Amino acid sequence: MKSYELREKYLNFFASKGHAVIPSSSLIPENDPSVLFTTAGMHPLVPYLLGQKHPAGTRLTDVQKCVRTGDIDEVGDATHCTFFEMLGNWSLGDYFKKESITYSFEFLTKVLGIPVDKLAVTVFEGDDDAPRDEVAASVWEGLGIPKDRIFYLPKKHNWWIASTTGPCGGDTEIFVDTGKPVEGNPSPADDGGKWVEIWNNVFMEFYRHPDGSYTPLSQKNVDTGMGLERTLCMLNGYKSVYETDLFSDIIAKLEELSGKKYGSDDAVTKAMRIIADHMRTATFMIGDEKGVTPSNVDQGYVLRRLLRRAVRYARMIELDSTLLTDIAKMYIAKYKDVYPELGLGAEHIVSEIAKEEEKFSKTLGNGIKEMEKVLKWVQGDTLNGKTAFRLYDTFGFPIEMTVEIAAERGYKVDIEGYNKAFEDHQKKSQAGAEQKFKGGLADTGERTVYLHTATHLLLASLKKVLGRDDIYQKGSNITAERLRFDFNFERPLTEEEKKAVENAVNDAIAKDMPVTCREMTIEQAREEGATGVFGSKYGEVVKVYTIGDYSKEICGGPHAEHTGQLKHFTLLKEGSSSAGVRRIRATID
Ligand code: ALA
Repeated sequence: MKSYELREKYLNFFASKGHAVIPSSSLIPENDPSVLFTTAGMHPLVPYLLGQKHPAGTRLTDVQKCVRTGDIDEVGDATHCTFFEMLGNWSLGDYFKKESITYSFEFLTKVLGIPVDKLAVTVFEGDDDAPRDEVAASVWEGLGIPKDRIFYLPKKHNWWIASTTGPCGGDTEIFVDTGKPVEGNPSPADDGGKWVEIWNNVFMEFYRHPDGSYTPLSQKNVDTGMGLERTLCMLNGYKSVYETDLFSDIIAKLEELSGKKYGSDDAVTKAMRIIADHMRTATFMIGDEKGVTPSNVDQGYVLRRLLRRAVRYARMIELDSTLLTDIAKMYIAKYKDVYPELGLGAEHIVSEIAKEEEKFSKTLGNGIKEMEKVLKWVQGDTLNGKTAFRLYDTFGFPIEMTVEIAAERGYKVDIEGYNKAFEDHQKKSQAGAEQKFKGGLADTGERTVYLHTATHLLLASLKKVLGRDDIYQKGSNITAERLRFDFNFERPLTEEEKKAVENAVNDAIAKDMPVTCREMTIEQAREEGATGVFGSKYGEVVKVYTIGDYSKEICGGPHAEHTGQLKHFTLLKEGSSSAGVRRIRATID
């Protein structure tokens, strides 16, 4: 079976059971500083699991793009991917255990045709917080799963929560027999690879508080998740996800470009898998509707790590790492029908990857030489923290990469020492650095408000002058004196471009256009072509500010009433903010 067939079958099946098919949300969670990436289909739906009304109803289904980097070190084996797609269906206070299990059973046995005797399930065994799940077990039994393939397991296995607090509950997990012979009848928790998990149905009826206590939610929900890659692998009887249509042509391309054979030896196989995985994740991160660019913090740092690791593994199989952009292009072509943002951002994705590759390629060889030199003189088996920091600061080695390379040579790294060196360095550089970046409009004085309107005119003018629709605001900071505006663009603006942008803004001011505000759902805003960060909250009502026929942006306001109030715009300075992000300072008078 191919990936598109599985997505289609899944969504069609749940649509036939009254579920609204909703689009995937961004990989970057909205208003949730506790996690860097969307890690499960339920993530964007948390407000609705807690009782807020979802405009599409109480039964939903989707395919959500997810990133989990917790087990990045396991990438290279048969099943771990840093990016994956999660097929999910939800009941928001609608049906509960019986229907949920029955739907899953019907989909697996009837639609996918998996024989009942290939299935095993686990259910929650119960403890002080919640009872033993006899209900789920009896539904399974009623459907024909024999008692000896229904396993009761504790919280560690059969309780699901996205982080440490939030909606959660006992779950029932569904496994398929790999055919691997084992002795006796071990549970999937302890089976030496006989059972592979493909689906998790969580009965979300509790809220876990910071003190570890649980209270019932206002409604009983169902949250399920099925990994697309893993399920495809199982259905096709493949040994690894890299044999599925999501990867097989990528692996073939890597063979062609490197002249090495996948499967010929473990190191080559692992390197090709890591490159295939990391390049896919990087493509989705950069191409996301809230696009990430490589940097040294947060999501940007994870992206940088992935790209630099891919570059290193490319070198290991003698693959010219500038060709990694070819791999990204293949992923864009492969996924753009399902995820149009990749097609829209194609040029940007490729240029970001090329830039990061170039930056790192320059220092990678010297960094490795330096490391080998240092390792020769190391006393004992640990590389000191100061050296690890120098490898980061001078050669751009993410600490995780230093640890990985050191381990390949039998050494450890003093991480505490590295952290200390890192902090000392930061303290020093922060002392003279400017005030921490502040977003949004805190001050609503007249000049600040007008400068805020100027940022909208500036964004529209940048798009117009540079002829690019994929330019977004990456940050803004406004004081009564000036505005500071960050946007994605890969090179400095020329003098002519700067002048043209300034003129365009001044033309818009001279036309004295009205600034109007309307409220609408995020979907309407998108349809009307408004720019702005499209959040993950389906149906969320947002304000859209329109300036004549020149600009339309989702924004909280406030703004000038008409552009003439801004009088005159001066672009003071344009420079680099971080990789792929430019910064403009400007003022009005
Ligand atoms: N949220 C559940 C999971 O990720 C379905 O496994």
